[in-house]
Amino acid sequence: MLDKYNRKIDYLRFSITDRCNHRCFYCIPLDTKFLPFDNLLTTDEINILAQIFSGIGIQQVRITGGEPLLREDVVDITRKLSKYFRISMTTNGSRLRELAESLKEAGLVSVNISLNSLKEDVFFRITKGQLKPVLAGIDAAIKCGLFVKINTVVSQLNLNELPELVDFVSKRGIPIRFIEMMPIGRQNKGTIFEDQILEKLSDFDLKPVQIKIGQGPARYFITKHGNYVGIISAMSRSFCKSCNKLRLSCDGKLYPCLGSTYYVDVLEKLRSQQVEQLSELVKIAIYNKPLSHNMKDSTVPNTMNRLGG
Ligand code: 5AD
Ligand code: SF4
Repeated sequence: MLDKYNRKIDYLRFSITDRCNHRCFYCIPLDTKFLPFDNLLTTDEINILAQIFSGIGIQQVRITGGEPLLREDVVDITRKLSKYFRISMTTNGSRLRELAESLKEAGLVSVNISLNSLKEDVFFRITKGQLKPVLAGIDAAIKCGLFVKINTVVSQLNLNELPELVDFVSKRGIPIRFIEMMPIGRQNKGTIFEDQILEKLSDFDLKPVQIKIGQGPARYFITKHGNYVGIISAMSRSFCKSCNKLRLSCDGKLYPCLGSTYYVDVLEKLRSQQVEQLSELVKIAIYNKPLSHNMKDSTVPNTMNRLGG
């Protein structure tokens, strides 16, 4: 379906839990309170919504969180959604070693894995999580034939490590994307902008390439060794004009824009037995998708872990 600015909306990012076993400093506050389980969409509700989203023209769904692999029914959800959509996932990778194979079998096609450092102590400082299981998860996902991309949010803590991260992905033949930190949820000061990121990578002789890998807004470069490096410059460039996304939070609120607090409450309609009105409600949200975010001017109070990064 088209929104009022004629953008074709065919991509849904779907957060299935707000919980996470990591605490990235730019995402979840240490003292965060998670939602009661009753507030989360159930597998059956997800199945009903899948039919509605498919009916209005959504073709691709990215399962996110929080950490989606913490939900016990994640394989089942993947299987159900894959009947209707091409399925990808964003994960911190910590449980992928155990789950990659079953997810692939359930219909998962591609996975974006967060990797912010290759040094255990720096990784811990950024995420409060352990590096080793994530590295094992990355290799398990590659081994079982999933398309793998690496996501790195750039900050002062890992800026000097960017070349090592590029070497890491080059060895495995997978792309990496460096992400500008966005002021969402937490007061994230210290965004490193794309110019500075590119400067750190100057030894790789990056050449811009006109390719699209997946659905995301990354701009890609090729290194002198033939590996793809992407930059997601949410702050220094705006890609709102070509945005094709909707976001469904784990508690069933549909947000047409990450940078705006506008949403419609899909779960409430679903639980008050007004299923026939759901499709209309979704269409209203699409129609009202804001033209652009204004994250440069203010911090958006949306919570990334409910809404899906
Ligand atoms: N700014 C930029 N990226 C973020 N992510 C989570 N919070 C932020 C933020 N404030 C990242 C995650 C993941 C991706 C989906 O979004 O680390 O890699
Ligand atoms: Fe967890 Fe991802 Fe948020 Fe880090 S960015 S705390 S891994 S949800």
